[in-house]
Amino acid sequence: MVNIGFFIIASNLMDKLVIKGGHRLKGCVTASGSKNTSLPIIAATLLVGSGTFRLHHIPDLQDIKTFTQLLHHLGAETTFSENTLLLSTRNVESIQAPYELVKKMRASIYVLGPLLARFGHARVSLPGGCAFGPRPIDLHLMAMEKLGAQISIETGFIDASIPGGKLRGAHIDFPVSSVGATGNALMAAVLAEGTTTITNAAAEPEIETLCQFLIAMGATIRGTGTTELEIEGSDALQAIEFNNVFDRIEAGTLLAAAAITGGEITLNGVDPDQMKAVLKKFQHAGCQVETTANSITLKSPQKLIPTDVTAKPYPAFPTDMQAQWIALMTQAEGTSLITDKIYHERFNHIPELNRLGAHIEILKNKAVVHGPQKLSGTTVMSTDLRASASLVLAGLVAEGTTEVLRVYHLDRGYEQIEVKLNSLGAEIIREKYKEFS
Ligand code: EPU
Repeated sequence: MVNIGFFIIASNLMDKLVIKGGHRLKGCVTASGSKNTSLPIIAATLLVGSGTFRLHHIPDLQDIKTFTQLLHHLGAETTFSENTLLLSTRNVESIQAPYELVKKMRASIYVLGPLLARFGHARVSLPGGCAFGPRPIDLHLMAMEKLGAQISIETGFIDASIPGGKLRGAHIDFPVSSVGATGNALMAAVLAEGTTTITNAAAEPEIETLCQFLIAMGATIRGTGTTELEIEGSDALQAIEFNNVFDRIEAGTLLAAAAITGGEITLNGVDPDQMKAVLKKFQHAGCQVETTANSITLKSPQKLIPTDVTAKPYPAFPTDMQAQWIALMTQAEGTSLITDKIYHERFNHIPELNRLGAHIEILKNKAVVHGPQKLSGTTVMSTDLRASASLVLAGLVAEGTTEVLRVYHLDRGYEQIEVKLNSLGAEIIREKYKEFS
């Protein structure tokens, strides 16, 4: 803290990425484990009162650390080493997720279903605002109520209890497809009495993997991978060993990094079937895409073709790749239209991309990207995870040096991103800087 006359200036030491643009990416890289699969899987371990889970291929990310911290707070024992997480929830006694941890990560709401199902009571702090628009939790609460929970909101907490002592199977029809609410409903229903049906369930690979995880724990779930799920409640589940799947959004981001630099890369450790919509768009943009059962090779064209995308629930193009696609389209030969039907206001990256020289307009929930624009390096600010990824992509192709500030957003969801990009020929260094407020 510095005191200058009447002003007190506080400073925080933070990380930034300094990117020297203009390098064509080339080579092979392996995808990390999925963040958005790890989180519900870790939450699901709360359903079991004995044994130790061994979870492999868990990415070493800030969001995983925050979530593990939350489980610690509840009483779980955890050890994390070389992407394997050992977890025992047998000594969990607390049923309260405090604001200090929930405010760091909205996905903390995932503990609601499992705590309620196991202990008959859960208190979870209400998650606060989000950088890219409203993110309500009404569907999570609706699902718990359908299963017999009584919910009240008081002093900033969701308080959920079961007057009947045990959750009861029910029919849950989601008016909107929600990954998180489907995950919570599943985790509660596996310990409920009787049969639960979920219609308009999210069919994202993250939910499919959660179903596989719960089935391996002893749950009975039919319809895995579809929008209609049927769950037979079990009396008890067991701790298991599990291999997490690859991160399809990290994979898409690395492919976009190759495409924006005119490069050619092979991604290993992936399942191309989970990325059909994204790969189709890369092909439409002129990229050559070749796949095997567990790899994707992308060769960039001489000139990128402008390609519209609309982000919608799986199997459509994911909202979590929208920002990266906008960055890519700044280099396409013409105008493309990017629409987000999941988060209508998720466009914080656009003013920053424009500061790098892009020409992007926002019309309601559409971004109009006028390409190709020559980008030139400057200092830009991350505002959320995927927005940060789009700035890194732009920095890879910008002339000169781009500094991406507040990299902590990026570190929530990308494991060693600069190490991976540098191994493909990028020139990125991480430095500390002081941010004044
Ligand atoms: N929604 C409601 N009510 C609810 C819940 C959701 O109206 O109770 C709406 C949302 O406002 C949104 C739509 O439903 O319009 C879909 O939201 P969803 O619930 O599917 O999102 P989420 O579960 O909170 C996960 C990912 C997000 C990803 C979305 C959409 C995790 C931890 N997060 O969020 O990932 O964007 O699904 O696919 O899995 C990211 O990784 O950068 C990220 C934000």
